[in-house]
Amino acid sequence: MSEPIIFDTDPGVDDAQAIAIALRHPDIELLGMTTTFGNVDIETATHNALLLSELAGHRVPVAQGAAAPMVKPRHPAPAHIHGANGLGDIELPAVTGQAESCSAAQFIVDTVNARPGEVTLVAVGPLGNLAAALQLDPSITERVKRVVVMGGSIKEGGNVTPVAEANIFNDPHAAQRVLTAGWPLTLVGLDVTHRCVLTPSHMRRIAAGQGPLGEVLAGSYAFYREFYQNALGIDGCCPHDSLALAWLVRPELFTTASGHLNVATEGPAEGQTLFAPHQRAFISPRWSQTPLADVGLGVDGAAVVEWITDTLA
Ligand code: RIB
Ligand code: CA
Repeated sequence: MSEPIIFDTDPGVDDAQAIAIALRHPDIELLGMTTTFGNVDIETATHNALLLSELAGHRVPVAQGAAAPMVKPRHPAPAHIHGANGLGDIELPAVTGQAESCSAAQFIVDTVNARPGEVTLVAVGPLGNLAAALQLDPSITERVKRVVVMGGSIKEGGNVTPVAEANIFNDPHAAQRVLTAGWPLTLVGLDVTHRCVLTPSHMRRIAAGQGPLGEVLAGSYAFYREFYQNALGIDGCCPHDSLALAWLVRPELFTTASGHLNVATEGPAEGQTLFAPHQRAFISPRWSQTPLADVGLGVDGAAVVEWITDTLA
């Protein structure tokens, strides 16, 4: 049976890989994409979401969302990682479609309420759209099937600060709301995404299987690969955002733990995700008062990369 999802994204090279999976995988029914600032500004994010769905020959609704964080000022987009155009600065074909007239938050609320108990929200960028949807209609927590977030880090350390992962750091106030809203939630963070490396030979298989979309995936990957070579010394890239979909379709490849999440919203730990395991007593109950959530702590990285490649090859 295929899973109906909304994909909330800031495309972004690794977002593009995940979008391709969401558009192609037979077990996923992509109801639409909602866009956020993050890897790029909001207009570029929306442009790229439209473009990727057109290149796949599978148009889905795209609704534009958050242009900036809820509270703090926006950091400059990381053009050195994803390119100024979010897709490795390769030349891109023109887009013909347009975004929906409603906001991302409204799209989420309407879609979830139209299919109570069925829709999973998969969020792979800063979490302002999900926070705005909660503000528009707090009762969606009862009608969403599940929320899967690519973000955070429990034991791995951060990728933009010593302790913070990029999606959470980019809007920690939104993340605090979303990760503690009390809906069924799984956090898929750096503890698992850093165990997966998509190598050039995987990407060659993917590109060969994806026609015009494959050219964009391969071209943007080449730019992203250079960043990973310099930053982490690996030959390939971590396909962060695809891991949220891998968890949805192949949860048996992951180990998860249940517990309470909190997000540091200011100070030197800004953007850090704090995880208090279920029923573990600390010096005070302070860290264990938020609703239970699941976090990914381990993964069969090689199997996930094969799953990504097989899906797209
Ligand atoms: O930390 C990884 C996340 O931030 C991914 O969503 C990626 O797209 C990046 O911007
Ligand atoms: Ca992303």
